[in-house]
Amino acid sequence: DKGNHRHFMAKEIHEQPEVVSHTLASFIDMVGETIRLPENLPFDWAALSRVTISACGTASFAGMIAKYWFERYARLPVEVDIASEFRYREAPLDKGGLSIFVSQSGETADTLAALRYCKEQGQHTLAIVNVPTSTIAREASVMVRTLAGPEIGVASTKAFTCQLAALAGLAIGAGKARGVLSAEEESELVHALIEAPRLMAEALRLEHEIETFSRDLAKAKDVLYLGRGTSFPLSLEGALKLKEISYIHAEGYAAGELKHGPIALIDETMPVVVIAPFDTIFEKTVSNMQEVAARGGRIILMTDEAGAAAAAMTTLKTIILPSMPTILTPLVYSIPIQLLAYHTAVIIGTDVDQPRNLAKSVTVE
Ligand code: F6R
Repeated sequence: DKGNHRHFMAKEIHEQPEVVSHTLASFIDMVGETIRLPENLPFDWAALSRVTISACGTASFAGMIAKYWFERYARLPVEVDIASEFRYREAPLDKGGLSIFVSQSGETADTLAALRYCKEQGQHTLAIVNVPTSTIAREASVMVRTLAGPEIGVASTKAFTCQLAALAGLAIGAGKARGVLSAEEESELVHALIEAPRLMAEALRLEHEIETFSRDLAKAKDVLYLGRGTSFPLSLEGALKLKEISYIHAEGYAAGELKHGPIALIDETMPVVVIAPFDTIFEKTVSNMQEVAARGGRIILMTDEAGAAAAAMTTLKTIILPSMPTILTPLVYSIPIQLLAYHTAVIIGTDVDQPRNLAKSVTVE
């Protein structure tokens, strides 16, 4: 049932404040503002020297974002791998180490193969899944559920933000367990997470404005997405979302990589989506953005009031989000990223819920 929406994807985008809130409630102690990690974990966070994350597609971008969180909040080194690469690479793994698998369906063939490889190597396995009866959920030693509910649209939206919520919780919990975060710092981060659904709802209110930007995007042949920090994997997700449902060629890049190649693509016909919340690396992203502007690139900037003021460029189209603690930006900026892709596809007239050549669950490699 699509409710009042034209597509399942639209419905699922709009469900995000609610399902992210459910997912958060499953591991947050709302009164104490602490993380409740899964009980009886077979490993000790403090004893880990690194974590491996394997997943495919959108789920792998959730993993890449989590890398920034685990390294920052838990001082725990993370390697993120695309499962189809990891499974054949014969990666050396420490016995007793931790491998995390992220999968909406819990049936993705490559992710399952990566899980089986890690088990053979004596790794502890933790799966973040949306389907609790799935093969990956059953075979992992620990299951963490995302409570996104059934996701029908082939392009993942609400499963992605719920994966982010679960991974943020794990990273904070790990940081506390490893003695990296004080009780006060933990509660500050948990407090921020609790705000996510409200901020996501605010971002949804920008839909009409984003739709007008989509009209411009719909005419493009190629689109570039740029970001730094956690906004880098989010730029990869933005590009994937756009290409899979609108069939417009799009690529995501770490903003600092621009001058190492992709800047050659920039001309007056090239829309460039810049994801840049006003944070410690904002200035760096802005200088990359100026390089794009100087070459005539058409910029769509996603930022907040402070960012818009500091960017001080008049040629921009700007999507202004509320300001928020840094940990929340991937969750909240996902909304304009998804809406931009969605409305572009609707304008072009593609089959948004069932894009050509794609299956919801990739059970063959
Ligand atoms: C993109 C998308 C895919 C999936 C990928 C993994 O919108 O949906 O990239 O994220 O196929 O699927 P799961 O999470 O089921 O393992």
